Amino acid sequence: MSPSEKVYNPSKEIVKRALIKSMDEYHKLYKEAEDDFEGFWDRLAKDKIDWIKPYHKVLDETSAPFYKWFVGGKLNVSTQCLDRHLDKRGDKTAILFEGEPGDKRAITYRELSNEVNKAANLLKNQFNIKKGDRVVIYMPMIPELPVAMLACARIGAIHSVVFGGFSADSLRDRIIDATAKLVITADGGHRRGQPNMLKPVVDEALKDSCESIENVLIVKRNKEKVNWVDGRDHWYHELINDESNVCEPEVMDSEDPLYLLYTSGSTGKPKGIQHSQAGYILWAQLTMEWVFDIQEDDIYWCSADIGWVTGHTYILYGPLAVGTTTVMYEGVPVHPDPGRWWKMIEDYKVNQFYTAPTAIRLLHKVGPDEPGKYDLSSLKILGTVGEPINPDAWIWYHENVGNKKCPIVDTWWQTETGGHMLSPLPGATPTKPGSATFPLPGIFPEIMDENGNKVSANEKGLLCIVKPWPSMLRTIWGDPDRYVSNYFSRAKKNGKPVYFTGDGSIYDEDGYIWITGRVDDVLNVSGHRIGTAEIESAIGHHPDVAEVAVVGKPDAIKGESIFAYVVLKTDHPKETLTAGIKEVVTKEIGPMARPENITYVPGLPKTRSGKIMRRLLRSVAKGETITQDISTLEDPTIVGKIQDSMKH
Ligand code: WTA
Repeated sequence: MSPSEKVYNPSKEIVKRALIKSMDEYHKLYKEAEDDFEGFWDRLAKDKIDWIKPYHKVLDETSAPFYKWFVGGKLNVSTQCLDRHLDKRGDKTAILFEGEPGDKRAITYRELSNEVNKAANLLKNQFNIKKGDRVVIYMPMIPELPVAMLACARIGAIHSVVFGGFSADSLRDRIIDATAKLVITADGGHRRGQPNMLKPVVDEALKDSCESIENVLIVKRNKEKVNWVDGRDHWYHELINDESNVCEPEVMDSEDPLYLLYTSGSTGKPKGIQHSQAGYILWAQLTMEWVFDIQEDDIYWCSADIGWVTGHTYILYGPLAVGTTTVMYEGVPVHPDPGRWWKMIEDYKVNQFYTAPTAIRLLHKVGPDEPGKYDLSSLKILGTVGEPINPDAWIWYHENVGNKKCPIVDTWWQTETGGHMLSPLPGATPTKPGSATFPLPGIFPEIMDENGNKVSANEKGLLCIVKPWPSMLRTIWGDPDRYVSNYFSRAKKNGKPVYFTGDGSIYDEDGYIWITGRVDDVLNVSGHRIGTAEIESAIGHHPDVAEVAVVGKPDAIKGESIFAYVVLKTDHPKETLTAGIKEVVTKEIGPMARPENITYVPGLPKTRSGKIMRRLLRSVAKGETITQDISTLEDPTIVGKIQDSMKH
């Protein structure tokens, strides 16, 4: 983390092809936004979006922090992603799909557009879905998933995609919170060589309190047998071909919601992050150009799941808005062997590859020499997202996957930000392994102390964004107060509340930004964001549990693993309990939230006001010697007792 550490400069070949070719060009763009904030965004919005009707104001701050962008403008995001490409790129491949069993589909922009129009008509004509209605999508990674999302965008319905790893309870909570009218799902997908069933989860979710759901639309994927509810359930393939491939796009306001995506916070239930139309698609498009340097013949692959924001912005909306070819893969990276992804890069001649540090660490561990067995020479740019990347993983990725010639863009962003915020530019920024480097043009972060003052170099602070940006979340669905209290009540600049990210970070001597991780009670497990409060609430529902505290413990592959301290109501045999507790978590949230460690303790360390000292519990989980002051605890002896319980 000091200037003496090795810095990686972009190679001549990358600079030659790059849209932004030097730090001077980056600084020029950055300064343009600094000098004339609205003028900067105005120029880009006019240039990049096919407006049905122009906006009359770039930014309306009168109800801040409820910002409005490109006020009065009309557009349709599906048109931006499909129709406008058809003349020039109708026969170009939009989606290159590969299923886990090895089945392949290449779908052109024209074919995708036809399918989206048909699906849009289906939603309108058969299921009475109208502008503003919510549609929950619970699907495997198959092309019908982007089709469903774009069909919603075409008719102005608000999609809410739920990751296929979530349980029936989680799915139900999201359906109820969004009062969705329709669920789109599939029989199931393929994962690790096994059928991964989804329809049964939907059936289970809909058993209870989902009165708003009128119909379930089901894509046939893995051909496993599923239960059927007559009148409610409909096969997609039986209906889709009756529909016309012409569906007039709904005229949408810049600020109409495009989608909801639920994510975890430090307290309470997951929040429905609400994104807009114009600002979101503008930033998705710009970051594809700036950060991935997408050019006409590139083949681009983001290995995320569309159930998370990375998949929304960087498998679907961004790639299609810029008219590139986006690769989509259904399964896990290690099936049938740890060379699967590298083989796909070779087969499709992928130019940009974007993945998560947890996947890089896993593939490094299970197959360090695998990349060398494939021809990865098509690769030009590598990306990472989701958590801080440790320099070891960065260097393995750089040397073994990128053959030392591909810049790595370490992109820092969040569900709430809609798109990249901090990232190197591949043809400009000298990178340091582990740092997301600098903000993109138009983005104004500041690392602050608790009093709102900018911290000095090497001093840890809170990462805040001091000006609004077009792709920011607009609100939390149905809970505007929580939007304000969650994001705009912690930090101020010049008396004005600013966006607080929940992440800690540091500037080094060269002004590079290093993310140190969440400062709130949100865990990042294998790149999945999970609130400790949610896990605690699930564990607390086990009949034998009196009290519980959950913390993250550093993990070499997952980044963090889940560590639960449980106080029991009475003395029980622990063996069956542990399985029972894990089961409750799987049922209420999903398998990704199962605790790795459960330790039974006689009590929890609390302050006299009853607050659980999680910092202390994190140290204990790591096996550290406790040096913190524990005299403020209600019962200072509890720490020793907890440490004793860990020995058993
Ligand atoms: C973390 C994922 C360090 C961070 C796009 C953030 C990162 C949270 C990085 C958001 C990165 C994401 N370096 N940390 N490059 N990217 N994070 O909402 O803690 O699933 O707040 O969005 O992931 O997770 P989310």
